[in-house]
Amino acid sequence: MEPYRIKVVEPIPVTTRQQREEALKRVHYNLFDLRAEEVTIDLLTDSGTGALSAAQQAAGMAGDESYSGSRSFYRFHETVTELTGYSHILPAHQGRAAERVLFNTLLEPGKLVLANTHFDTTRANVELSGAEARDLPCPEARDLDSTHPFKGNIDLEELRRTLTGPDGSRVAVVLLTITNNGGGGQPVSMENIKQTSALCRAHGVPFFLDAARFAENAWLVTRHEPGYQDRTPRQVAEEAFRLTDGCVMSAKKDGIVHIGGFIGLNDGELAQRCELLLIATEGFATYGGLAGRDLDMMAQGLKEVTEPSYLAERADIATHLANRVRSAGVDILEPPGLHALYLNAGRLFPHIPAHHYPGHALACQLYLEGGIRSAELGSLYLGEEDEEGNPTKSAPYELVRLALPRRVYTRSHYDHVGETLEKIVKNAGSVHGFRITEQSPILRHFRATLVPV
Ligand code: F0G
Repeated sequence: MEPYRIKVVEPIPVTTRQQREEALKRVHYNLFDLRAEEVTIDLLTDSGTGALSAAQQAAGMAGDESYSGSRSFYRFHETVTELTGYSHILPAHQGRAAERVLFNTLLEPGKLVLANTHFDTTRANVELSGAEARDLPCPEARDLDSTHPFKGNIDLEELRRTLTGPDGSRVAVVLLTITNNGGGGQPVSMENIKQTSALCRAHGVPFFLDAARFAENAWLVTRHEPGYQDRTPRQVAEEAFRLTDGCVMSAKKDGIVHIGGFIGLNDGELAQRCELLLIATEGFATYGGLAGRDLDMMAQGLKEVTEPSYLAERADIATHLANRVRSAGVDILEPPGLHALYLNAGRLFPHIPAHHYPGHALACQLYLEGGIRSAELGSLYLGEEDEEGNPTKSAPYELVRLALPRRVYTRSHYDHVGETLEKIVKNAGSVHGFRITEQSPILRHFRATLVPV
């Protein structure tokens, strides 16, 4: 059961099918353009959408809004230092701000960043600094149905080959995203982190974590990795951070705050250079683009997020939804992680070709039938067409992500998702695809307009 009770509630909008049909037409079938008041269950993201605890709200009230040297900063600093062990902590307003400051400082054209999988803003920030972002996911990650417990791992053989090969001297940093959001929210094992750490040390390459979901990764380690069953998630997280040289963190996930992030570093000289860019572009080094209250709420959230009862329930509710989805007849990327489920839309709608976006078709059906907002992760997101609309590149899989906000929705909300999917499956053969009418040159899924075909 939920290890909390509800003290503050927010009504959720209930709409009619006709209203949803009209809304879809009005936004040209782009779900990003819906107004929140048109969405009943919003599973677009688990980022910045969690519910604050009473203790976080209280910490926020105690926030010190001094421009520099605020008490909030020192409380935040102490909490993050105890958790991570890094010598230097720089606050930033969110994950991508931390990425931009770190990569602009550390990278230059010609350099190479290796990762299990870069999240899309991480890749964008690497590329904006002129460097190359290369993903080396482990081979098990390619099989959506495999229940291997650590499909988020980096391919250690490929990592070794790259570090010792002709590109080795170009590698500026190795990054492990825990859990691996771009790879289906799958965790990385401690063994994989240890071996990556050893390889990086041997080659003198800095090793960083993208720690956005570090507590969820730690939970899955305590469940599935031999030798870690008796450890607490907090102990696992502490060990993981200490195997690395630094991290970038979006606290909008496992900080359970609406806004916040940080960079952790051991290299004093690099920290000094990052601090200068931070001051010029984010804010002074003791607030980094955040209010004092945000720093205090983040510190409290970082303590709550490794509580075993909280993580156990989060895993349990994800499993509950996974079971509902499977029994509705929809396959998911196995095994289910904690922050999201990834529905296999390509398999559900074999009659819709990739360039008519089966994932987008499912996302639109979820909205039309149930007022549920999700995110397509398929060929609308990753594909390309030529000027005549002929496909030139499609995504490896046609997926839809149902992200699970922290402490927000209950089992009955997720039962509604299961029931909606049951309805969709009954008429799967009659669901149609889409064609793009307008798109932007980059990140097209955010702004594209579409029509049914
Ligand atoms: N790294 C990972 C693994 C992420 O999932 C995200 C954001 C970021 C970095 C960037 O952090 O949003 O605070 O700037 N992921 C969100 C999502 C947007 O929906 O998965 P941010």
